[in-house]
Amino acid sequence: MKILVVGSGGREHTLVWKLKQSPMVKKIYVTPGNAGISLIANSVSIKADDIKGLANFAERHDIDLTVVGPELPLTLGIVDEFQKRGLRIFGPSQMAAEIEGSKAFAKEFMRKHHIPTAPFQIFTEASEAISFIKSATMPIVIKASGLAAGKGSVVVRDHQEAVDTIEKIMVKKIFGESGSKAVVETFLEGQEVSVMAFTDGKNTKVMLPSQDHKPIGDGDTGPNTGGMGAYCPVGFVDESTTAFINEHIVERTISALAEEGRSYKGVLYAGLILTKTGPKVIEFNCRFGDPETQAVLPLLKSDLADIFIAIADGDLSIIDDLEWYPGAAGCVVLASKGYPGKYETGKRIFGLRNYSDRKCYLFHAGTRKEGRNWLTAGGRVIGVSAVDKDLSTALAKAYEIIEGIKFDGMYFRSDIGFRANTRVKITEI
Ligand code: AMP
Ligand code: GLY
Repeated sequence: MKILVVGSGGREHTLVWKLKQSPMVKKIYVTPGNAGISLIANSVSIKADDIKGLANFAERHDIDLTVVGPELPLTLGIVDEFQKRGLRIFGPSQMAAEIEGSKAFAKEFMRKHHIPTAPFQIFTEASEAISFIKSATMPIVIKASGLAAGKGSVVVRDHQEAVDTIEKIMVKKIFGESGSKAVVETFLEGQEVSVMAFTDGKNTKVMLPSQDHKPIGDGDTGPNTGGMGAYCPVGFVDESTTAFINEHIVERTISALAEEGRSYKGVLYAGLILTKTGPKVIEFNCRFGDPETQAVLPLLKSDLADIFIAIADGDLSIIDDLEWYPGAAGCVVLASKGYPGKYETGKRIFGLRNYSDRKCYLFHAGTRKEGRNWLTAGGRVIGVSAVDKDLSTALAKAYEIIEGIKFDGMYFRSDIGFRANTRVKITEI
């Protein structure tokens, strides 16, 4: 089989790495990819949002399956275009992807179908949002409705900050048209968990839960990033919480989307907060999480290509239950100084080696190669993932390997997994 993977981050590197392990897979192309992915797949410079260009490529090269990493092409309708041309593709249609593309849609959908989430209001006028906020109890969360690369949600602690945030999002439009609608919601207290599920629109297979670390600084301080590290599984998600999430969030969402004529095929990602009154959704994504994928897929034993094909062909029920390796995985992201704000690129990276014999994997995000030199080319540069018998051993190994990697301005959080041993008590569901 020839596979095309669309995207260029650590998530896509992990997808390619995992797909390569399938005996069915003969060749993998990646568009546009990065220097690290180029070691194991053929990079082709087509941008992830050039949908016609990607479909033309898949036609010309007889691609058997296309796998879409990022949200943008999905919300632009890449799946609809490929299906129109009779090309096999893994991912949700444009209408199904709206669950991520529009937070306003997602929130109204959840309200309508009784999927647990924070109470909210939607605004299309800044003045109305501001007058609402003036009487709201702080903290609250203000979100640009459209896509904003994971940076469009702001937790605000006082009224002035709330007004400033509305102005930035809705008037100054720092996220462009994504801010023409804003969601204002109640702040939820509790542990965050990411749950991803494979689905064909009817049948569902839920992956092990993972936890992201969104803020830039240790102890979850500073501005939000795309994600600074992750681990899997999450010990404090017990059996009854898992059962609740599967039934009342994942399965209910998938069947309600089907009821609304938006049948969802692909990976559905639910970002959750485990509150005292049970798990609540803070966001849906229409794709694999990044960096959660770098921690979840190294533990997956099942053949990923088999799962993708079954879903693309519309019947996940032919696949056995997911199988997992024992132990845990942790991923620590190495970023450029200044990220998620301004940062420099083109810094030489030293110490990149293959550590797979130690079950440690360097998943590249923003890297490029010049001659024999590796250079930084983005805010998040490399995710160092390690698998071991338990989480603390896995993370100790990742941090030990990071000691041998260097680039000018290299920054990483030193506390990935710091909440792993928390106890979560859900008093009433
Ligand atoms: P989102 O873009 O919706 O995933 O939100 C980004 C981050 O903001 C989340 O990972 C949470 O840390 C935080 N957040 C979003 N919504 C809420 C909420 N209702 N209560 C508390 N924190 C939230
Ligand atoms: N890690 C969060 C996301 O992928 O959106």
